[in-house]
Amino acid sequence: MPKDLAVGIHDLSFATGQLVLTHETLAAHNGTELGKYHVGIGQRSMSVPAADEDIVTMGAAAAAPILARHGADRIRTVIFATESSVDQAKAAGIHVHSLLSMPSATRVVELKQACYGGTAALQFAIGLVHRDPSQQVLVIASDVSKYELDQPGEATQGAAAVAMLISADPALVRIEEPSGVFTADIMDFWRPNYLTTALVDGKESVSAYLQAMDGAWKDYTEQGGRAFEEFAAFCYHQPFTKMAYKAHRALLESCGREVDEAEVVRAIGRTTAYNEDIGNSYTASVYLGLAALLDGSDDSDGSDGSDGSDGSDGSDGSDDSDDLTGRAIGLLSYGSGSVAEFFAAVPVPGYRSQLRSEQHREAISGRREIGYADYRERHEQAFPVDGGDHPAPRETTGPYRLAGLFGHKRVYEPR
Ligand code: CAA
Repeated sequence: MPKDLAVGIHDLSFATGQLVLTHETLAAHNGTELGKYHVGIGQRSMSVPAADEDIVTMGAAAAAPILARHGADRIRTVIFATESSVDQAKAAGIHVHSLLSMPSATRVVELKQACYGGTAALQFAIGLVHRDPSQQVLVIASDVSKYELDQPGEATQGAAAVAMLISADPALVRIEEPSGVFTADIMDFWRPNYLTTALVDGKESVSAYLQAMDGAWKDYTEQGGRAFEEFAAFCYHQPFTKMAYKAHRALLESCGREVDEAEVVRAIGRTTAYNEDIGNSYTASVYLGLAALLDGSDDSDGSDGSDGSDGSDGSDGSDDSDDLTGRAIGLLSYGSGSVAEFFAAVPVPGYRSQLRSEQHREAISGRREIGYADYRERHEQAFPVDGGDHPAPRETTGPYRLAGLFGHKRVYEPR
């Protein structure tokens, strides 16, 4: 295996919950000034799963277009990262593997470390591909973010899944070495096994995030990473999109640079477009940031790639200044508790012909808006735990659904 083998994200696709609660609706209920949501935390709406949707159905919906494009023949590993797991023992990815009729010669595992799990999955997948470059790994990061009603965290809820195919000679971005990593034992956000909503010390979690980012960046620099000036853009984990602004200002200061607001917007402005409408999707969040940045550079007028430029000459067929080909993007993944990792991704020639911009925009624009009372009722709803048969209401219009809980078993089906 050549040491300089390029490994990275070959394809990326996301799905989100089919319902949406706007921050106008939330603010009208709780009397909060809308400016606090739209400007203060940078959120406009939050995705809410339908009654027969969860991390599995969203994960399968995100991954299905990837398998349709590339097949499953080379995928020998599925890594499912989540904070909002549906079972203490069984990996949620096995349900996805089954829904997508993947070959039995596959290993499937679930990973957890709050919002950082998706990045652990990506890095482990890269290691597997280096071991055998003929293999591909399907990484799925899927979460439903849920806080208690009427608490500050409520405005930052959301739901989404990102699926990424990790491969040698990737068609989207190559992931560079080194990574900068950081771990500290801190209780800023956590969820005991007996709770369905996360516990959080909001202010503490913001400073824990910034401290972890600083640690990861310092380690990245010590490991011989790129200089700050070499990055064209930065994708941060976005529990709420204003957090990315806080993070970038802190990074500028840590690098001894002046905080120029125009530079902050230039570096991260295009990474927040999806997250401000979807809300926090924990493990998926930083990759929704990457999707927004790449899709924002799409030159095919909203094409999903099927009718875009063919990239056959190894270029996008455009010298548009939006083109990120060969330009380093810094990614900062943070998971409370806490672990952070900073690393670089570099879009490869032809990447714009592979984007799923139209699919992604439709996933957001196609959601059905719900009112506050409806949202509140859904928030408090849970299956009975008596071991009986509890079908889920038929609601989603997505490709897969949770049929219900039967004898303590979650059953999934194509819709
Ligand atoms: N117009 C404009 N801005 C306004 C405003 C108005 N009318 N009213 C308030 N604001 C601003 C405030 O000045 C404040 O700005 P700064 O952050 O720049 O100071 C901002 O809006 C938020 O206001 P508050 O601090 O008063 O908000 P809050 O008490 O409701 O708490 C929060 C905000 C801590 C983020 C809370 O939503 C929360 O606990 N969220 C969940 C935890 C979280 O997301 N933590 C992030 C780091 S942890 C992590 O990243 C992992 C993860 O995914 C959970």
